[in-house]
Amino acid sequence: MFLKITSFLFLFLSLILTSCQTIELDSAKENKLEQKLEQKLEQQAIAISKIEVKEIAVDHAGFKIYKDNTCQNCHGDKLQGSLTGPPLIYNLYKSSHHNDLKLFTSIKEGVDQHHWFFGNMPDHGFINDKDIQLIVQFIRQSLILNNIK
Ligand code: HEC
Repeated sequence: MFLKITSFLFLFLSLILTSCQTIELDSAKENKLEQKLEQKLEQQAIAISKIEVKEIAVDHAGFKIYKDNTCQNCHGDKLQGSLTGPPLIYNLYKSSHHNDLKLFTSIKEGVDQHHWFFGNMPDHGFINDKDIQLIVQFIRQSLILNNIK
């Protein structure tokens, strides 16, 4: 009987210990992930702080549409980015990587977070296709003005 109770107790204690260990492992994993995310956010902040937008295509009709449709809240008045969205004057957006059709679709339908750590971009289906095309042309011309082709 005594043996039975001790082995039961032993089993019980080892169960508790293993579950504590898994909790510890989980929180170690979480800490690592948090550290990685912090590092990425720091890298992102450094990359953004280095951005110098020389010039944007202010005379293009798409600039006004861009300004009138909340884009600048997240991407800045000079496409330089902000605390809520990435810069659009950035090497990533050269046409071989994001062609005009890709930009058009992302603006119209929104886009899930994939290059940055700002979260998702909301869709802008309420802007008509012609105006979205003008915004895309404005972004493309501005990229070219900054030698990103
Ligand atoms: C609430 C913030 C927010 C608003 C408003 C917003 N964007 Fe964005 N946008 C983002 C974020 C965040 C991303 C980056 C997603 C990623 O790559 O992680 C993005 C990405 C983009 C991209 C790149 C798309 C791609 O395929 O990678 C373009 C172009 C763009 N935005 C244009 C616009 C335009 C034009 C408007 C206005 C009509 C606009 N955005 C409004 C947050 C925003």
